[in-house]
Amino acid sequence: MIQTNTYSAEVLKAVDIGLSRSPKRLPSWLFYDEIGDKIFQAIMRMPEYYLTGCEFEILRTKKDQILQHVSSQDRPFQLVELGAGDGTKTEVLLKHFLNQQKEFTYVPVDISEAVLHQLVSRLGRTVPDLQVQPQNTLYHQALKLLSDREERKLILFMGANIGNMSVDEARQFVKQIAEHMNPDDLLMVGFDLKKDPRLIQAAYDDAGGITREFNLNLLARINRELGGEFDLDYFNHYPYYDPESGITKSYLVSTVKQQVYIEALDKSVSFEPWEIIHTEVSQKYDMTMVNTLARHAGLEVVDKLYDNKKYFCDVIFRVADY
Ligand code: AVJ
Repeated sequence: MIQTNTYSAEVLKAVDIGLSRSPKRLPSWLFYDEIGDKIFQAIMRMPEYYLTGCEFEILRTKKDQILQHVSSQDRPFQLVELGAGDGTKTEVLLKHFLNQQKEFTYVPVDISEAVLHQLVSRLGRTVPDLQVQPQNTLYHQALKLLSDREERKLILFMGANIGNMSVDEARQFVKQIAEHMNPDDLLMVGFDLKKDPRLIQAAYDDAGGITREFNLNLLARINRELGGEFDLDYFNHYPYYDPESGITKSYLVSTVKQQVYIEALDKSVSFEPWEIIHTEVSQKYDMTMVNTLARHAGLEVVDKLYDNKKYFCDVIFRVADY
């Protein structure tokens, strides 16, 4: 049921464009409404979703190494986090930096207002001395804010969020970040690495069906927010990992021929049997790809931080001086 007649213009536009395309494709930022945030938090706790545990381990064991990179001159700095989410992992760094008496401001950026609220109120309890300046925007808008800042910056783009972009998009995006970086700024990006294809496949196709629920929530969200009439029983969740390209693609598959009315668009969308909506890319990297990305973006690698299984890598970059 629709509660108001004011549909979010951005959501409406994304759905209209995405469902008119062939093949149909919805942007993955649409996953993260209040319910999607909760389901994603459940994903991070699933045994199959190794990514979170690996990056946790890296932050726990390498937090001082990270701090040494950013605080060498002992000046105040800014910790800008793109796609901060619920910030549970980042808290490891925040606490360590504060314990070491470092002077810094935390600037979490996230598209989800709900998750930012949750983050800020939790940090108010767990790290009360922290200075926080949350930014509720899309990444590209946040980038503009970066260049206004005078203090040294460590920009965090963790959690394999970069994986939601194609390799080309990631290059463009990292290049844009680099253009907003000063010579002493640093960027730390979390990459999920190529590994046993079965492990990757399972991370996106868990036995408990949580990822299925996450994917289907996209349609449920259209129902809630745009007065859509999707019947979730007629759509399957299908993720597919290609070990050659390192791309995991997630799809919603229409199991029947159907027409779905969406009130906010005042039109119906038709599906052929087994027609797909492509909903997500989760790109996996190897080190050659990371180096190529750096080169194309005008960055150089400062340090590579791995978990002990080498499933995941947080890479620290600075602007290349050539
Ligand atoms: C938040 C983009 C890193 O691609 O692994 C998890 C999102 N989708 N399970 C990922 C996600 C399905 C996740 N990222």
